[in-house]
Amino acid sequence: MLDRLEQLQGETLTQIDRTASSAELDRLESAVLGKKGELTTMLRTVGQLPPEERPQVGKLANEVRVALEAAFQARRAALQSHELASQMAAGAIDVTLPGRRVPQGRLHPATITLRQIYNIWAEMGFQVYQSRDVEDDDTNFTLLNIPPHHPARDMWDTFYTTQKGVILRTHTSPGQIRAMHEYAPEPIRVILPGMVYRYEQVDATHEMQFNQVEGLAVGRGIRMTDLKGVMIAFARRMYGAERRVRFRCSHFPFTEPSVEVDVEWEGGWLEIGGAGMVHPTVLKNGGYDPRVFSGFAFGIGPERITLIKHAIEDIRVFWANDLRFLEQF
Ligand code: FA5
Repeated sequence: MLDRLEQLQGETLTQIDRTASSAELDRLESAVLGKKGELTTMLRTVGQLPPEERPQVGKLANEVRVALEAAFQARRAALQSHELASQMAAGAIDVTLPGRRVPQGRLHPATITLRQIYNIWAEMGFQVYQSRDVEDDDTNFTLLNIPPHHPARDMWDTFYTTQKGVILRTHTSPGQIRAMHEYAPEPIRVILPGMVYRYEQVDATHEMQFNQVEGLAVGRGIRMTDLKGVMIAFARRMYGAERRVRFRCSHFPFTEPSVEVDVEWEGGWLEIGGAGMVHPTVLKNGGYDPRVFSGFAFGIGPERITLIKHAIEDIRVFWANDLRFLEQF
């Protein structure tokens, strides 16, 4: 028995040294020191030995147990610190690795231009007024001095809905009527941005839906020179201080006189929109007395403005949602 005890101690110490994980060490410990472990079993049988052998065997068995317990404890501590170190190494961040790119969204080119336009007009005291996309025929046409069957209705090929008299607005000008109804008889200085819809033959410069930014100023003593002044100020803020601006005679049923506004661009002229003095009939339809009040209005096309500014060849790319185009801005 004494031999076996010494042998067991030697074997177990060797095995302890060879264990590679705490789990393996636990299994070994329970095989030797556990309830049914070999040493425990031996200790239990000491009582059955002849009385003269008991003290010696008992003493040795206890010494072996104490030695093994200490060896298990030391090995456990070593294994655990090793395991912790390798866990930390596995989870460590290698700061020298290249980062993963986070895809970043960006503003749509039309939004960029719209915001520039808002800022410029805001500095001149124009508030943004949001009007509706779905309009009634009266507001889109009739109240703007375009009665049914007026030939000017041909200028805006219209998307009609299944509901009689309900259409998608063909321009932002009906917003003039809505703003006037809201503010009359107070003075007005607003811009009305938004999508407009036309049943157009789509080509490189014509879309079926595009943005317009309408402007409207109504008050006492507003004159054509005021309109010219703000349009020139706008064009210079948008395109550069030395830019020349040209006003061409035109015709819109809701303004009188009417003009087309062009800015100098790369040796030629670029049309930025239509404008004019609000027609007396339209002022009256909006709730203002045209003998007391006057006003100007304009309608500009931001996509056309962006097109020219960035030398984009086709307006259709704006709403095609092709990221290769959109990511360039
Ligand atoms: C109008 O829509 C008038 N309501 C503008 C106006 C407002 C005049 C107030 C006077 C007073 P016009 O159809 O020309 O006018 O359109 C105005 C601008 O919208 C054009 O100068 C152009 O920049 C843009 N535009 C017109 N049609 C298209 C289209 N199919 N695609 C993209 N932009 C367009």
